[in-house]
Amino acid sequence: MYLPPHNGSIGVFDSGIGGLSVANAVCGLLPRESLLYVSDNHHAPYGARTDAEVFDFSRRITDYLLAAGAKLVVVACNTATSIAIDGLRESYPDVPFVGLEPAVKPAARGRNVGVLATAVTLRSARYRALRARYLADRPVWESPCVGLVERIEAHGAGSVPVRALLEDLLSGAGELDTVVLGCTHYPLVIGDIRAALPPGTDVIDPSGAAARQVQRLLQRRGLAASEPEISVRHDFLCTGGSAPLQRTLRHLPALNADRRWVLPYLKRLTTPDA
Ligand code: DGL
Repeated sequence: MYLPPHNGSIGVFDSGIGGLSVANAVCGLLPRESLLYVSDNHHAPYGARTDAEVFDFSRRITDYLLAAGAKLVVVACNTATSIAIDGLRESYPDVPFVGLEPAVKPAARGRNVGVLATAVTLRSARYRALRARYLADRPVWESPCVGLVERIEAHGAGSVPVRALLEDLLSGAGELDTVVLGCTHYPLVIGDIRAALPPGTDVIDPSGAAARQVQRLLQRRGLAASEPEISVRHDFLCTGGSAPLQRTLRHLPALNADRRWVLPYLKRLTTPDA
């Protein structure tokens, strides 16, 4: 397998374009860092997969990123984090990992909380423990948002199919004052989500907090890019077609400006011998 020369990049992965919300925040905070992004869209959505499948995909992508020289891995997917991050940390005790989890702790400032996440995340032990810890004393409305990730991948922000599904999904939510975006795809359509909620609803996007955690870990481990550094490069690989990445990147100027390549159909990242 061809491994791009990527020593020193931050590896980022998701089932699709969702992790770009996190990559974009990392890029905004750490513009001198290079990124190697993997979208496993051949296997998306992870939310409809078994835990064993999500674990297997996450491990294969992490193996790839590390073989390609990533210095830190961002599991930019709540679903993969909820299932795989403990196992990944065990397998690679020296590698710094940053995961994404539904931000239920900051949501505790609200009274009527909604959590939007995939079915896998909502049923995971990690999420249930977080919810019991921070939100046990109030009602929590949860939605697995069936079909939303697929529509975001296919149509993008502001599209009629995304808006129509969100109106439908959120019509049963009642009077929420706080909504947690527990899937990295959802910040990409935050405007559409806000439009489907009552004005003034506090919508919590964890991308900025994840980027600050990347910064902290790089500094703590002495891994931050230093001057003079080889030129910044942002590379994007996907296991299926590249149209969703190409379309979404056009709306994320910081990532787009330093993008070097978008390589499609790298199925071997996650499919043995395919
Ligand atoms: N973006 C992902 C997450 O944060 C996964 C979406 C999916 O593939 O179902 O959970």
